[in-house]
Amino acid sequence: MKFDLRNVTRRFGGHIAVNDVCLSIPQGQMVGIIGRSGAGKSTLLRMINRLADPTSGSLHFGETEVSSLKGAGLRNWQRDCAMIFQQFNLVPRLDVMTNVMLGRLNHRSTAMSLMGIFTREERIAALAALERLGIEQTALQPAGTLSGGQQQRVAIARALMQTPKMLLADEPIASLDPLNARIVMDALKDINEREGITVITNLHTLDTARAYCERIIGMAAGRVVFDGPPEALDAEAVTTIYGTSSDGHAIDETMTSTSIRPETLPVSALPRMTMASVHA
Ligand SMILES: Nc1ncnc2c1ncn2[C@@H]1O[C@H](COP(=O)(O)OP(=O)(O)OP(=O)(O)O)[C@@H](O)[C@H]1O
Ligand SMILES: [Mg+2]
Repeated sequence: MKFDLRNVTRRFGGHIAVNDVCLSIPQGQMVGIIGRSGAGKSTLLRMINRLADPTSGSLHFGETEVSSLKGAGLRNWQRDCAMIFQQFNLVPRLDVMTNVMLGRLNHRSTAMSLMGIFTREERIAALAALERLGIEQTALQPAGTLSGGQQQRVAIARALMQTPKMLLADEPIASLDPLNARIVMDALKDINEREGITVITNLHTLDTARAYCERIIGMAAGRVVFDGPPEALDAEAVTTIYGTSSDGHAIDETMTSTSIRPETLPVSALPRMTMASVHA
């Protein structure tokens, strides 16, 4: 199903964070959103899963108007579009398995989850998700004891437990070293390709967006100023998105680079796990 943003604007007081954005994102696309700090990338992503609401305009998923959902409809939507963050947002003192199973919160009774009562099926699904991300050996460790890259993979496993239709990621690799950044981006790409889950990710490095995303959306001052495939992102487009440096020179692309590239890693070599098997 297609996701549409129609004339979406978000103001904070007198400041316009997102300005009249219109986008149409087909199911299964891998989209990277780039732009300078303050361009409105996080605000845009947060509106998609309703962590923030537009001041005007509307959001639609197929026939559903997402921006007017309330109550159970809103909770279902937030389950359908899982979000991962730069700082992972795990519960550090809980073990990895429990953190992953908390992805099921919206599928079940909160009391049962808080008491740590999970079904055998949920445990199996959580382990399968961890295995898929290559971190099953950490299942019983407190999440806070894992490395950043491992923690982000736990966050992705937790997101998978939601059986989402869309996966939103706000700078998922900004706190990671290049190797872990690559492992995490490869995992997102793998999920996108195998399950056909739409992935929309904010990225602060241009080369990562180029290497992993089939579509790049460039934002500047709340507006979409570029929307196209990586090949179309030429020097002129980069200058439109990032502007010029204070001395008047165009932004050098290496300034926004971490030099990571997709590669065949253990993540993609793992046995195929379909969403049906996560659900099982
Ligand atoms: N809750 C808020 N209250 C007031 N202003 C806000 C709020 N959230 C965002 N803004 C403002 O909206 C603008 C866009 O912020 P946003 O966080 O979306 O940018 P960003 O592109 O994600 O930046 P970064 O790359 O630094 O994460 C900024 O000027 C920011 O200060
Ligand atoms: Mg941001």
